[in-house]
Amino acid sequence: MAARKLFLLPGDGIGPESMGEVKKLINWMNDNLATGFETSEGLVGGAAYDAHGAAISDADMEQAMAADAVLFGAVGGPKWDDVPYDVRPEAGLLRLRKDMKLFANLRPAICYPALADSSSLRHDVVEGLDILIVRELTGGVYFGEPKEIIDLGNGQKRGIDTQVYDTFEIERISRVAFDLAKTRQNKVTSMEKRNVMISGVLWNEVVTAVHAAEYPEVELEHMLADAGGMQLVRWPKQFDVIVTDNLFGDMLSDVAAMLTGSLGMLPSASLGAPDPVSGARKALYEPVHGSAPDIAGTGAANPIAMIASFAMCLRYSFEMIAEADRLEKAIANVLDNGLRTGDIMSKGMKQVGTTEMGDAVIAEFQALSA
Ligand code: IPM
Ligand code: MG
Repeated sequence: MAARKLFLLPGDGIGPESMGEVKKLINWMNDNLATGFETSEGLVGGAAYDAHGAAISDADMEQAMAADAVLFGAVGGPKWDDVPYDVRPEAGLLRLRKDMKLFANLRPAICYPALADSSSLRHDVVEGLDILIVRELTGGVYFGEPKEIIDLGNGQKRGIDTQVYDTFEIERISRVAFDLAKTRQNKVTSMEKRNVMISGVLWNEVVTAVHAAEYPEVELEHMLADAGGMQLVRWPKQFDVIVTDNLFGDMLSDVAAMLTGSLGMLPSASLGAPDPVSGARKALYEPVHGSAPDIAGTGAANPIAMIASFAMCLRYSFEMIAEADRLEKAIANVLDNGLRTGDIMSKGMKQVGTTEMGDAVIAEFQALSA
């Protein structure tokens, strides 16, 4: 079997600890399922800054571009609060997204039955929740130019970010959303702020046009992004797929994540366009949680989001659907059995650390693979 090349970028904070559990899983799969994963590892974020003075080195960037998939941990921490803006830890992640052209960010928010009581919302509001946020990831205000602080010369400065979207960018992200909706509940909610942003007017027009021309069978609804945020906490089960821009997607996906009980649970996939010849697409998988510097190094981090990100990698980069299903089931079973890391701990459950949680998921995956 051709090698499956994985490039690992554990990064900072709890990134390396969570990635450690995925490495154990990969080793087990290679030894027992002949999966042929080949891994190499690089530095990103503060770790890369400390080693090379950049948030990711050119050599590591090249490895990321050559890999079948990149697994990313987390970046950032107080240690690097004062480094120059263009080499801050987050710049490494943004460069990966931009250079690999990962325009489609898939952020599922699934409430595991065992965790419905850990949510800050009522049990009946979140039980069975399964929504998918499709966030545009390489455009909008994150990358628009000009992006600068200029000196106005009168003791005032002006900070400028630019929100900009071209038709093709909105078209391709809406197609991703409509295609995914067809495999789910067949409904897309598009969110923008067309009442104040002219780019939102274009967003709305283009999504409407793609829908009418190519996906009339999918249900489409438009919502202003602020109202969308409100509806997400009011009655999240009304949503199936949400498609939105880079900045709104950043905010709304944190909200959606918290509905499920913990940010420590949620994976994400960032995908490029399929190659017209091979069909392969560049891809990066990362947990939605950050580097959690407050608990880094204590062995308390929840590795589930990182493991679930690897499940998304199996699904989207390698079409290993059965393995992905088994891994997701293994996570659900471990939670059903009462194991909890600190972030999702509740009364009567058994609190464990990062390695015990990782081992339990691997053991369960092993049992399901037998
Ligand atoms: C995310 C993060 C990033 C973002 C940061 C770390 C740059 O918040 O992936 O949601 O804003 O996109
Ligand atoms: Mg975010």
